[in-house]
Amino acid sequence: MMRGLIALTALVVAVLGKEMFEGHQVLRIVAKDETQLPLIKNLEDMVEFELDFWRGVTDVSSPVDVRVPFHSLQSVKIHLESQDIEYSIMIGDLQVMLDEEQQEMESAARIAEPRNTDSFDFSRYHTISEIYSFQDMLVAENPNLVSKIVIGQSYEGRPLNVLKFSTGGTKRPAIWLDTGIHSREWVTQASGTWFAKKIVTDYGRDPAITAILNKMDIFLEIVTNPDGYYFTHNSNRMWRKTRKPNSGSSCVGVDPNRNWDAGFGGAGASNNPCSETYRGPRAHSEPEVKSIVDFVKSHGNFKAFVSIHSYSQMLLYPYGYTKTPCKDQAELHNLAKKAITDLASLYNTSYRYGSIINTIYQASGGTIDWTYNQGIKYSYTFELRDTGRYGFILPANQIIPTAKETWLALMAIMDHTSKNMY
Ligand SMILES: *[C@@H]1O[C@H](CO)[C@@H](O)[C@H](O)[C@H]1NC(C)=O
Ligand SMILES: [Zn+2]
Repeated sequence: MMRGLIALTALVVAVLGKEMFEGHQVLRIVAKDETQLPLIKNLEDMVEFELDFWRGVTDVSSPVDVRVPFHSLQSVKIHLESQDIEYSIMIGDLQVMLDEEQQEMESAARIAEPRNTDSFDFSRYHTISEIYSFQDMLVAENPNLVSKIVIGQSYEGRPLNVLKFSTGGTKRPAIWLDTGIHSREWVTQASGTWFAKKIVTDYGRDPAITAILNKMDIFLEIVTNPDGYYFTHNSNRMWRKTRKPNSGSSCVGVDPNRNWDAGFGGAGASNNPCSETYRGPRAHSEPEVKSIVDFVKSHGNFKAFVSIHSYSQMLLYPYGYTKTPCKDQAELHNLAKKAITDLASLYNTSYRYGSIINTIYQASGGTIDWTYNQGIKYSYTFELRDTGRYGFILPANQIIPTAKETWLALMAIMDHTSKNMY
């Protein structure tokens, strides 16, 4: 019976043309010393292997995680061994993990659609339409606190919905939060959904969030890359970029975290449309990015901007495109330390923190470099759980713990912002 069901599911999936990852492995590569870093970095240029870097090359103490398709597994392993580079197998067969994730989602979907946000199951991953209807229910249930703003349309015409949490006033100083700009980072959209419910639940009960909302507005974009998110559910779970075709190339999409006008085109982004870090034809070429740019500029009173990614457990501040420390480095560093200490107080989850370029690697055209250069001092980016055991396929039973601990760090940042108005 079960086997029949799985076979049927596989058949339906095959008919719909979903990308399969049978036999794909995720390898964890660890450099022995500095001299091996460029050798590992070289893998990025070996296009014939069709590698997908889940965690890029940083330094000797940070592992590199890379998804290797079945067809190049042998060659990649031989290549690594011939160069005396050590690796371990982090995920033995990616499709097995994806099948488990899918089965869990489908078993959840059999339960009737929630009629209100109290019966929404935050411990599951949800489709874009489920998240959109969650947002509408939240607005309907809390008309005096929450409204929905459509700041633009994605390339494929989906609304770019932003939830506004406001207790009044006009153009109050504001905090921006976004999740899911990289579509495959599913724990982020799921956490964003939980944050939205948390804000309405705690307002009027928790003195800290109440004080913040009596002074400031919070804007939350949960599905920041909706075309990509739809694609991860229906075609390719590992999709990261936008879905706009690139002229002169058969490869689709731009990395929306390399598309901002901050060091655009510099090192740490690719000019190859087939790359996962393709910067795009010009800064703000992607409507998903341009809509935020226009919104932030026309609003003109954002004081904090937090862009949430996964995975690797880090809290980062500008810059990514230059080694020059940003002028608020000392304050941002201390606040990051406070935020990750608060985060760890719940489940002892360990985070690293620092500037992007010093903590991960040089990345140009990134979101928070642009927001910081616009004058938004408290610009941060998170990399949520985990450190690689499951990577982007974080089991759904970790959504709520991830959201809860992250909320403590967000509260530290929002609280500091509201008490240090500039
Ligand atoms: C918390 O994590 C640290 C390392 O991240 C570890 O050394 C320590 O034992 C952990 N504490 C508890 C109570 O689990
Ligand atoms: Zn990301």
